Amino acid sequence: MRSTEARGSAGAALPHESAVLHVTGSATYIDDLPELRRTLHAAIGLATEAHARILSIDLSAVRAAPGVVCVLTADDIPGLNDFGPVVHDDPIFATEEVQFHGQALFAVLAEDMRAARAATRLAKVEYDRLPALLGIDEALEAGTRVLPDVSLRQGDVDTAIGAAPHQLEGTVRHGGQDHFYLETHIAYVIPQEDRTFKVHSSSQHPGEVQLQVAHALGLEAKDVTVECRRMGGGFGGKESQPGQIAAIAAIGALRTGRPVKLRLDRDDDMVLTGKRHDFRIDWHVGFDDEGRILGVRFRQSTRAGYSADLTGAIADRAMFHADNAYFLPSVAIDSHRCKTHTVSNTAFRGFGGPQGMFGIEEVIDAIARKLGRDPLDVRKLNYYGTTERNTTHYGQVIEDNVIHEMTAELEAGCDYRARREAIREWNASSPVVRRGIALTPVKFGISFTATHLNQAGALLNVYTDGTVLLNHGGTEMGQGLFTKVAQVVARELQIDIDRIRVTASDTARVPNASATAASSGADLNGKAAQDAARKIKARLTEFAAAKYAVREDQVEFRANQIQAGTTVVSFAELVHAAWMARVSLSATGYYRTPKIAYDRETLSGRPFYYYAYGVACSEVAIDTLTGESKVLRTDILHDAGQSLNPAIDIGQVEGGFIQGMGWLTMEELHWDASGRLRTHAPSTYKIPAVSDVPKIFNVRLWDRAINVEDSIFRSKAVGEPPFMLALSVWHAIKDAVAASADYRVTPMLNAPATAEEILCSVDDARQRAHTP
Ligand code: MTE
Ligand code: MOS
Repeated sequence: MRSTEARGSAGAALPHESAVLHVTGSATYIDDLPELRRTLHAAIGLATEAHARILSIDLSAVRAAPGVVCVLTADDIPGLNDFGPVVHDDPIFATEEVQFHGQALFAVLAEDMRAARAATRLAKVEYDRLPALLGIDEALEAGTRVLPDVSLRQGDVDTAIGAAPHQLEGTVRHGGQDHFYLETHIAYVIPQEDRTFKVHSSSQHPGEVQLQVAHALGLEAKDVTVECRRMGGGFGGKESQPGQIAAIAAIGALRTGRPVKLRLDRDDDMVLTGKRHDFRIDWHVGFDDEGRILGVRFRQSTRAGYSADLTGAIADRAMFHADNAYFLPSVAIDSHRCKTHTVSNTAFRGFGGPQGMFGIEEVIDAIARKLGRDPLDVRKLNYYGTTERNTTHYGQVIEDNVIHEMTAELEAGCDYRARREAIREWNASSPVVRRGIALTPVKFGISFTATHLNQAGALLNVYTDGTVLLNHGGTEMGQGLFTKVAQVVARELQIDIDRIRVTASDTARVPNASATAASSGADLNGKAAQDAARKIKARLTEFAAAKYAVREDQVEFRANQIQAGTTVVSFAELVHAAWMARVSLSATGYYRTPKIAYDRETLSGRPFYYYAYGVACSEVAIDTLTGESKVLRTDILHDAGQSLNPAIDIGQVEGGFIQGMGWLTMEELHWDASGRLRTHAPSTYKIPAVSDVPKIFNVRLWDRAINVEDSIFRSKAVGEPPFMLALSVWHAIKDAVAASADYRVTPMLNAPATAEEILCSVDDARQRAHTP
């Protein structure tokens, strides 16, 4: 970096702006805010049936419990009893019918949290039980859907598969995933004067919470302000779900005139709020002798839960990512968004992308094993071309394909071929522990598929001492967005990073912001902040040119100084002088992503501004007697474009990968026959621990990466794409299972690959290998 560059500007590997606060426990989360006098604490009463008519609810014992001040039901909602983000099918409190075990029925307000939580258990609810559909298969059979089926057709797939030299078909399933953010859902609502409300919400989408609260209270957007300084993790779980929590607290605040805090305990959070969509994927592929796909048909069936929530967009994205990095000459995808009597599933890192890729990687692996080829060779054979075979099944031409170069670099760098041979040899003399290896690609489309969401705003204030207060529509959930956007401004204004403070997301400062999601936080808000900074810079340039009698092109901003001809002044001096001369030092910025447009009816067009790429190679060992698995080594090469902050981006790649590994190997959601979630705490739900990190873990950002599109300083979004690099672990485990049956059959394995699942899969593979 040039010495004339301000410290910490875009491209610098700075620590997260709150790193010190995080590790010293002084970062303020909503539960840390000083509580106002007379604050009440809320807890939610949950249904104990999966599907039932509510005959009566007797809350007299709840009301009489010690410390209880007030009990809220749907009757207390002055406005709309709904928090559905797209479709209005999400009641804040269930009224006549319960649609999942754990649905909210009522809330208790008490003087302290324990009293509120204890009182919820005293409700007497009479139900008339109705048949509950819990799983995907049951819903498919019954034909229940939250949204209509969607189909995508490209080419004549029946003819292509029918005429292909080889055909294979199969069914594979993967589970859902709990977000397991460290901070559970929380809202703190403070009534203000004249029926207005201030809401602190742990939300990726404060603008939506503002509307949901206003609608629930029968008020308008102008009456409700929502603020969020940071979340203790969101991962998509705080995209559409916080509205219910905030609305309940707000209804309480309206009823009592007192501040109300609602923080879910871990068990309630896991039971009440949506998770990743699990899928059943049925596939049928036709391919040639080398393993080139000629036609493929997918039937993607997902468990939406009881309501639509964001299922439409998530299932669409699964369709868009059914190709991953592979050219599909002809394809048919049928997408079923199944309605079940379970919690309504929602956004989770990758947003359908991991689910779609899971299907095609299964197909590729099956083709390779059928032909007895190295799966990596079949992958490479099917990769999108750079000048031909480069149109996706939804009609977007891929203009930035770097997967060939990245694969070649990783393959050589991690010694894939030699290690694969060595592993095969090792397996031949190891009857109990078997090893496997896989190298898998990721190509992930960047942009919200709902085009209108691809916009952002920012507000930049420069004070007379030359420091900057920056606000934008994005939210901070640990991903480093605030750091990156501050770095953009540091680079644009050429001032040191410590002269810039980013303030809490606030609907009063930047209105109508989209959710911080789809990995596009830095892309959108970085550009909006840059726009604001450029306005200020233009004003200061004009002022300096006049003041020092030079042309505007003779005014240069560099490292906290402005040079105007031969005069050099500090940024602070110039700002002060500008203020004295009555130049406005505050500006808003705005950005909307160019080039994107797509037709929801035909699922075709250009939904994505660009693609982010990555490759990962993982080596695992499985114990064929216990089913345990362990990742021994992972090498990752990831494309973050011209990284805004390599330190944060490496963190995102590592974290995303490990979270993906959790999804595919250990995190298992289990609902019992009555529809009750039995895995609702860390005691029964296993997320990756430090000890699960691969012993050898080489993570690199690709040093030749650049965004061919005009993204913010040519960087690429990095929040979600690395999640899917964990498919390398999944396929390495499959490879190890195949080894346990001497590579004679294609393993049948469903995710997550828990010890039990691996044991069953080994058993099955060995049986099939020995039956002629
Ligand atoms: N990283 C951390 N530490 N915590 C999170 O909650 N969420 C992920 C990803 N990385 C998340 C995270 C998800 S789901 C998304 S969409 C992006 O961050 C959102 O932030 P960005 O758009 O600013 O990358
Ligand atoms: Mo991320 S699932 O788009 O919040």
